[in-house]
Amino acid sequence: MQPSEEIKAKLNIVDVIREHIQLTAAGVNFRAKCPFHRENSPSFVVSPEKQIYHCFGCGEGGDMFSFIMKIEGIDFVEALRILAAKAGVPLKRQNQEMNSKRNLLLDIIDMSRRYYHKLLIESAEAKGARAYLAKRGLSKETIEEWQIGYSPDSWDRIGGLLKEKGYKENEIFLAGLIVKSEKANKYYDRFRGRIMFPINDANGSTVGFSARISPEKEATDKMGKYINSPQTPVYDKGKLLFGLDKARSEIKKADLAILVEGQMDAITAHQAGYKNIIASSGTALSNEQVQLLKRFSNNIALSFDMDAAGEMAAERGIREAMEADMNIRVIELPFGKDPDECIKNRPDDWKNAVAVAKPMMQYYFDKTFSALDLKRVEDKRQAVRVLLPIIMKIKNLIEKDFWLKRLAEKLDVSTALLLESVGPARTIAKRVNSEVGPRKIENAPLAKTSREEALSELFLALIIKFNLYFDYAFGNLPVEQLFGSANRGIYKNLIIYYNINNRNEFETSDLYEGQNSENALFSVLEFTEWLKSSIGENFDNSSNNEQNELESSDIQNQLKLINKLVILGDEEYSEIDEARAKIELINLIAKLKKSFRSNRKKELAKLITIAERNDDKNELKILMQEFKVLSDQERE
Ligand code: UTP
Ligand code: MN
Repeated sequence: MQPSEEIKAKLNIVDVIREHIQLTAAGVNFRAKCPFHRENSPSFVVSPEKQIYHCFGCGEGGDMFSFIMKIEGIDFVEALRILAAKAGVPLKRQNQEMNSKRNLLLDIIDMSRRYYHKLLIESAEAKGARAYLAKRGLSKETIEEWQIGYSPDSWDRIGGLLKEKGYKENEIFLAGLIVKSEKANKYYDRFRGRIMFPINDANGSTVGFSARISPEKEATDKMGKYINSPQTPVYDKGKLLFGLDKARSEIKKADLAILVEGQMDAITAHQAGYKNIIASSGTALSNEQVQLLKRFSNNIALSFDMDAAGEMAAERGIREAMEADMNIRVIELPFGKDPDECIKNRPDDWKNAVAVAKPMMQYYFDKTFSALDLKRVEDKRQAVRVLLPIIMKIKNLIEKDFWLKRLAEKLDVSTALLLESVGPARTIAKRVNSEVGPRKIENAPLAKTSREEALSELFLALIIKFNLYFDYAFGNLPVEQLFGSANRGIYKNLIIYYNINNRNEFETSDLYEGQNSENALFSVLEFTEWLKSSIGENFDNSSNNEQNELESSDIQNQLKLINKLVILGDEEYSEIDEARAKIELINLIAKLKKSFRSNRKKELAKLITIAERNDDKNELKILMQEFKVLSDQERE
């Protein structure tokens, strides 16, 4: 069995997708608002029975692999890696799929993580680091869970080790573990004598490190308290949040993410049982980080160190979160200089501080007004200067209005006056408009399907769902009378497939006597497999033959469409029995034939005029004949 098949057998697509979005049971399937385009009513459907999903709004669809690829923005190999870990399916390195550049770097980093961790646990040289972490209150379990490590105080240890394992110098360099000395023209270890915190992506793959100075070197090391991995093909600081892989499920459950500055803060919090906590690693939140968080909750509480730098960071993070229309609260630390100290010394105070965290605007109001004397005009102006720009950034217009009124009340002026002070009225109107205007839609909506194409899809969905009426359908609706080239493509292949498999058992079912679905001769899964195999062995790597490629993209389209048809069948026809399905089928065929006839007659009318003009008697006769047949059929 292929690893991907084994994974599919072990995992349920509903669970996989549920980790990313909220699913609601709806009949045999599950529904959600589509994560791939903006919509107000849910048209994203997941079928547990078929293990596929489809969005009727934007047309996205596929299996659990394509879902992970799409939502994480990654390629197949990486999705394989993620789901394999989840399913507990081992992947072999020899597997050709696994040899992408990214995976090579991830392997190097993974190996380093294990080495550093082992050193911290066992080696004599890590004694100081071990003692330090113990002093800071980290348990053995925590060190294990976060895979904290120690990098030896040496210039060539990790580099040498990795080279021994067969990795090339430039690969180790690309992974961020060694640095090039231009002067000596050689490489040396980046992290030396430091406590290593692996940084994972949201799926738990280690992509880099944050390395804290070990206490015994604190006096001599001039490099700064923390050294981090450089930007690499796999490590992008602005797209990561420390601890998110461990916090994500709890963030979803609590519907709240608590953001702290330092990784030590996050680790301490988790150890104390507060697991919806992540760290920004000392920088302002980027837009990408906010978007990443938004997948798990729309609520964020910021807890920053009680120094000036902390407050600055808080403000920068807030701006991004405001722009993403998140609900933002600010946790005011009741004790200690950072959450780490507070949680360790007064856990109950921390708990309480989270519970009473203020809405962000309230926090700003309180902070600003506590330092001002509103009897002084000067101070009133100061309040406007600080608060109005923040209010103007609020996305939600009702909320914006609320705080505008609060500010006006506080200062005893009118809101109109406040708005005027921002700039000319027209600018404001424009700004407000641009804020409420349509956001960029990531996926262009599907090209509209015509009514006829929609009927054709229903027709295919019905026969696939009921599995009983192929003969009847094939006998009564010729391929060319179906609308939409992809629909015709599938229909044609269905007929071929059916004939191959049922050559000996071909029998016409009676109008109201369907066979029992238990002895159905058709399986969508087998049909799909057959379609895939018709492209050739190399389904995932497209072939170099041009003709093949053309067919392959055709088949790819059909595979995607089948997925849609299966879900469409569930959605439309789950409530009806076989007899009713037959009636439905007869109606659909009648409608399709009627559409086909009227379209064809219009076409014929044009052709007839041309033939008359050309005085092409022969052609005219044939066309008139066809026209008459169609007209007769209409009267039947
Ligand atoms: P802190 O100084 O608050 O770190 O910086 P901390 O995690 O609380 O560490 P301890 O408690 O002193 O051990 C907050 C974060 O800023 C980043 C680190 O990610 C750190 O966790 N930072 C800090 C750097 O990247 N470089 C530095 O030199 C300092
Ligand atoms: Mn700290």
